[in-house]
Amino acid sequence: MTCCSSLKLDDQASMEAQYAEEGPGPRICRAEPGNQLQPVSQARYWCSFRHGCAVLGALGMLAGVGVGSWLLVLYLWPAASQPTSGTSQDEDPTLSCLEAGGEGAPLPSPPKAVSFRINREDLLEVQVRPRPDWLLVCHEGWNPALGVQICQHLGHLRLAHHKGVDLSDLSLSSSQAFSQLLPSLGGPPGELWQPRDNCTSGRIVSLKCSGLGILTTGGPHWPPTSGPLSRSSLLAECGARPLASRIVGGQAVAPGRWPWQASVTLGSRHMCGGSVLAPHWVVTAAHCMHSSRLSRLSSWQVHTGLVSHSAIRPHQGAMLEKIIPHPFYSAQSHDYDIALLRLRTPLNFSDTVGAVCLPAEEQHFPRGSQCWVSGWGHTDPSYSHSSDMLQDAVVPLLSTEVCNSSCVYSGSLTSRMLCAGYLDGRADACQGDSGGPLVCPHQYTWHLVGVVSWGRGCAEPNHPGVYAKVAEFVDWIRDTVQDSLLSRPMVSANLTAR
Ligand code: ARG
Repeated sequence: MTCCSSLKLDDQASMEAQYAEEGPGPRICRAEPGNQLQPVSQARYWCSFRHGCAVLGALGMLAGVGVGSWLLVLYLWPAASQPTSGTSQDEDPTLSCLEAGGEGAPLPSPPKAVSFRINREDLLEVQVRPRPDWLLVCHEGWNPALGVQICQHLGHLRLAHHKGVDLSDLSLSSSQAFSQLLPSLGGPPGELWQPRDNCTSGRIVSLKCSGLGILTTGGPHWPPTSGPLSRSSLLAECGARPLASRIVGGQAVAPGRWPWQASVTLGSRHMCGGSVLAPHWVVTAAHCMHSSRLSRLSSWQVHTGLVSHSAIRPHQGAMLEKIIPHPFYSAQSHDYDIALLRLRTPLNFSDTVGAVCLPAEEQHFPRGSQCWVSGWGHTDPSYSHSSDMLQDAVVPLLSTEVCNSSCVYSGSLTSRMLCAGYLDGRADACQGDSGGPLVCPHQYTWHLVGVVSWGRGCAEPNHPGVYAKVAEFVDWIRDTVQDSLLSRPMVSANLTAR
């Protein structure tokens, strides 16, 4: 798809002149109405050779304007009284690249976040924001598979017990509201939970989970991948948030909101973001570790469980045992921009430190998916300071077709990259966010879909953020982790698996 391909040659000339004036800034294509003006100016030139033409011309124009207005009133009055005129393209000659490509989808609204909890009476409750209250869950529409997912989401290994409880057996407040699970139509989780005043079955869901976070590393089921009920996701915990936007256009986040977020530091200086995959493993961008050739392995550290960067104490970070950049990483094209960091000592998982799930190899997150990027990078492109507080922002996935169009990145994206953000430049990652996570929710767990890699400027119109596409690297990650385990002596392998 190329930008402005529908414009005629004359228009292109005027556009080139416009770009020459504006420089290489954001390119919004405009169709100039120059052609319609041409016959009028020729007529004026011809008239200047005739005596009295000016008077006649003026009379003629007046008559023309009169007839024109009458015709306009006659034909357009009924249309003008309609709520939509249907001619917006004629009225507004501005044609953005996005519209030119037919991808002018309305800007997505913020996702409805769903949270779960189990109350003291073992009753399952759901909160569907922006609604603030907790709703008991009606038993109609319930199934045990959902119980397994919710238990995992809450940080447990298993579903221990579930049943329907008669409302008549409970003394609930009269203001208690309920929620019913609708059959999945492929929509976002928030749309599946409908608030109700009562449950038609007269019963609500009681749920018990068991098994607290012992993440298996190095076994055949690691790394955790998605798939609602796959064996791996039953055995390994990932993508859950027990507690509970450069990032340009973002917001400061509360502790535990993104428990896999890591800060990769040289000494105590924040260099890049990273994501925890397991107690010994963090993934970041290969370009972040490029300077590792110039510095000693022992100068690097990984800090987790933080929101305020000023809380970093140099000796508290995890030391690196190995830096493994992708062997095909190219500094020129930013291709294969991913690296694994093996930590010398395992991270202690807690409410504020945990692993994110990897996507399944073929898992496709469609364009428009509401994903989140987080990091301590610059919050203002003209001010080169990392943010003290961790920031996050919602960035919808964009299609590679749009991102590779001539108005965006003109074919610079390889199949190991993906794009997320806004073509109007609302929010974006920025310098210092590199290596950090782009996560998308799927069936109540968070998956690492991208690693912050590059972009032109930050939050510039028509220049969204570009990320390393993690789904393309799942095999490499798995193989690298397994190789690393095989190459260590038996004693330390046992220790790792403990
Ligand atoms: N390369 C930058 C870094 O090292 C990240 C750039 C991301 N840019 C963007 N517009 N999304 O931190």
